[in-house]
Amino acid sequence: MVQLAKNAPVVGSFEEFVRDPLTLLVKARDVGDVVKLVSAEIEYPYLVSNPDMIHEVLITKHDSFIKSKNLQVLKLWVGEGILTSEGERHRKDRQVMQPFFNMKHISAYAPTMVKFTEKMLTRWQDGEIRDITKEMMDVTLEIITDTMFGTSVIDKNENGLRELIDEGHRLITEKIRMEGHEPPEETQKRNLALQQGLERLNQIIYAIIEERRNQPENKRHDLLSSLLRTGMTDKQLRDQVITIFLAGHETTANTLAWTWYLLSQHPEVEKKFHEELRRVLNCQAPTYESLTDLTYTRMIIQESMRLYPAAWSIGRIAKEDVVIGEYEFKKGEWFMMSQYAVHRDPKWYKNPDEFIPERFTGDFLKTIPTYAYFPFGGGPRVCIGNNFALMEATLLLATIGQQFKLELAEGAVVEPEPLITLVPKGLRMRVLKRLLT
Ligand code: HEM
Repeated sequence: MVQLAKNAPVVGSFEEFVRDPLTLLVKARDVGDVVKLVSAEIEYPYLVSNPDMIHEVLITKHDSFIKSKNLQVLKLWVGEGILTSEGERHRKDRQVMQPFFNMKHISAYAPTMVKFTEKMLTRWQDGEIRDITKEMMDVTLEIITDTMFGTSVIDKNENGLRELIDEGHRLITEKIRMEGHEPPEETQKRNLALQQGLERLNQIIYAIIEERRNQPENKRHDLLSSLLRTGMTDKQLRDQVITIFLAGHETTANTLAWTWYLLSQHPEVEKKFHEELRRVLNCQAPTYESLTDLTYTRMIIQESMRLYPAAWSIGRIAKEDVVIGEYEFKKGEWFMMSQYAVHRDPKWYKNPDEFIPERFTGDFLKTIPTYAYFPFGGGPRVCIGNNFALMEATLLLATIGQQFKLELAEGAVVEPEPLITLVPKGLRMRVLKRLLT
């Protein structure tokens, strides 16, 4: 029997939501398929935790939804790129960009990915301590800018592009969490900082676009050149470029950072990982061709994305009244679907909080509902960069793992910080040179 979502049980308090959203999401998951978070009176979302219902939202009834409120805030920063556009506009964006992300096209990026990783490793000194999240962010930003927009962007990085992007994401996350629950001066201060950051960011991006427009016959086959050929305006190009910066590096960087953390805590997994590297790579740098044989490395990444999904939740708003499972959502109501909570549900995973890459052996994913594991979302809005990301994560993990062993630094305390992506806060690691055997 269908019931109104607004009659679903209410779980949690605003304090819990701000202090520790992940714990609240897990707690809420266990209360029911649909719950109302925090309080029915204020504008907080529902949480949908049943994989079959998530399937309905992302696939069968996707037309009844638009993306979440948080993304509306994100638009301040990224504008109307493929991540935030809706309807016909989104369909067109996807049509232009999709060919760029097919396997045939992206396989050509494997050498670039390995090259930038090796460049990073030349800076690492045996025994020193490094902020591994930052290292992974830097290298993935270099890779995304080079593969998507050409090398010129990296020079612009010296103008503080990286810091600007970081600061922007921090401010946006705070805005999503805090606005309406803080003194107005704080909101104003933040809005001003956002505005200033945005102006500086725009200057850099517009300079890149102009430079490219002025190049005579463009021989490059990067994404920016393809976008230029579609006749987009500078503003449209700017929005797509910033979107890919945002979507295309932080997520993979955090996935890698979490994986290093997990490996450092599980020597038996690390040992098998090293054995596979030795067997498959035979002291050579990894290539696109070696990916098929790096099966255990792939499982390590899958398991890492299960426990610490970089996209820890996605949201949708009902465009019309719509029934999902046994619940009716009214037009305008919004809800979250949390990868973090679903991926740790004991209904689908044995020992759900434990790191066991072997669980991904063979057909495991066919034995659980499709949306019990959805690190890349699903349906028409599934992550366009999923193959790129998996290839990048595997190649980087293999290249680094071949040369270095990463240990958690003494006294380091690592905690998941759910910003736009799930960040391993405090991940300081000692990098130890390995002998290539
Ligand atoms: C481990 C790495 C990654 C994870 C976990 C991830 C996750 C996701 C998820 C969950 C979505 C769907 C959001 C929603 O439905 O609301 C998404 C969308 C998207 N991702 Fe990724 N992503 C990753 C890497 C990448 C990379 C490397 C790129 C680009 C090179 C990328 C580009 C995008 C874009 C453009 C969208 C929007 C697609 C659309 O709406 O049509 N992502 N990603």
